[in-house]
Amino acid sequence: MSSSTPGDHAPGHDHGHGYDGGVPPVLDEAFWDERYRSSDALWSGEPNRQLVAEVLPLPPGRALDVGCGEGADAVWLARQGWRVTAVDISGTALERARRHADDAGREVADRIEWVRHDVTTFEPGSRRFDLMSSQFVHLPGAPRDTVHLRLAGAVAEGGVLLIVTHDPTDLATSVGRPPFPDFFATAGEVARALPIEEWEILVAEARPRTAVDADGRDVTIHDAVMEARRRPATSRC
Ligand SMILES: C[S@@+](CC[C@H](N)C(=O)[O-])C[C@H]1O[C@@H](n2cnc3c(N)ncnc32)[C@H](O)[C@@H]1O
Repeated sequence: MSSSTPGDHAPGHDHGHGYDGGVPPVLDEAFWDERYRSSDALWSGEPNRQLVAEVLPLPPGRALDVGCGEGADAVWLARQGWRVTAVDISGTALERARRHADDAGREVADRIEWVRHDVTTFEPGSRRFDLMSSQFVHLPGAPRDTVHLRLAGAVAEGGVLLIVTHDPTDLATSVGRPPFPDFFATAGEVARALPIEEWEILVAEARPRTAVDADGRDVTIHDAVMEARRRPATSRC
């Protein structure tokens, strides 16, 4: 079994996308459960690098980790002192994530609440988070902005929204992204969905990194990194 870093979906490390034709798949619970069952561990167990880079300087508070997968980010956040609500559509992923947290010890496990839910219908209610992180949850274009805006609404004043995906330019590389451009957006496109009077855009860029393709070649790919801070109501224009 080979597992990749969570954001590193090169086919040499990440077989079995389950895309077997020209029609985009329905990325529902069954799809993701099957995907997770195809391997003992899909990801490396290490937290995503963009999360670590952006969140390490922040004081711990309440975090919402959307599409938490096998839980590496949630566990890392809890280790840093964050209280985490971790949401995923896949029960199989969440079982693994829970085990991962238990292995990290009681103090860490107790700081994480695991929630099985489809993020496209997830309602955070009256809860407010100091960090909302979504790492490599690729949604189709139609609901994407609406979902991001609903999640953004759950970020507390002064809190941070961090959305990281594979940049659309990866589609032209040999790393084997699913061939459905509608599932990809640039960081700038993600940022443009946010009302500028409410959000200060801190980062909106494509960050390069090296991945290995199916033939063992090094390939430069890009993470689309969008980070924004919710303006305090008093400072809005
Ligand atoms: C590429 S994986 C990334 C997992 C994790 N964020 C990481 O980087 O390791 C995408 C994750 O999003 C979850 N996901 C996809 N669509 C979802 C949805 N509509 N609601 C909730 N989770 C979803 C999948 O089950 C999967 O765990």
